[in-house]
Amino acid sequence: MQEISIPIIAIDGTSSSGKGTIAYRLAQHFGFNYLNSGALYRLIAYTIVQKGHDLHDVEKAIEIAKTISPVFEGKKVIVEGQDIWPIISSQEWGQGASIISPIPELREAVHLLQRRMIQHPGLVAEGRDMATHVFTDAHAKLYLDAHIEERARRRHKDELEKQSGKSFEEIVEELRIRDERDKHPSRGNAQLRPAPDGYELDTSDLDIDGVLEKCILWCKEKGVEK
Ligand code: DC
Repeated sequence: MQEISIPIIAIDGTSSSGKGTIAYRLAQHFGFNYLNSGALYRLIAYTIVQKGHDLHDVEKAIEIAKTISPVFEGKKVIVEGQDIWPIISSQEWGQGASIISPIPELREAVHLLQRRMIQHPGLVAEGRDMATHVFTDAHAKLYLDAHIEERARRRHKDELEKQSGKSFEEIVEELRIRDERDKHPSRGNAQLRPAPDGYELDTSDLDIDGVLEKCILWCKEKGVEK
């Protein structure tokens, strides 16, 4: 397979573990393309509802997954010329994504979209099953996590800026539900878990630069170069 020679960094982790920021910073550091796989599930959930269908309409979800072709430009998710990341990045579409994402046929369609992102000069892909399922051929595999209170504190800071009025306790509960769903064994291949040949990092007591430094080191050890 020709694509094997293109370097891939696969990052999985819990919600608000910092994996999104780290994945993006790693992509900048190595000059690679960046795939936010959660954005694909968010986009599908958003599109289903926007088209007037029920979020639980499995047929529609699969149909939409087979027809979307968003373009990732840095953190932007461009659909029909418009960056829809500011819309789909909300907690609402995160929950929506979490609800539809266990559907196996949907994941198959998304799998194809994700593999298409393997392009020169390299790829940093972040999500829940990047290292364990979609990119098992990744050169470097990372798993980020942090204590739930610390993740809630980070999310709460964002919510305060957005003036959403959400309490710390509400955020802890949302994260608890999301963790439970993402890690549930019924998700099969899509179950969030560390890859046995990857690097596991607890980011609770580290700042972004501290996490980034450790991740870059691991990638370099695995032969990933700029
Ligand atoms: O990373 P995120 O918060 O944007 O992800 C939103 C939801 O999408 C998450 O709860 C589970 C799902 N997801 C998934 O099932 N597989 C992925 N590779 C990425 C996200």
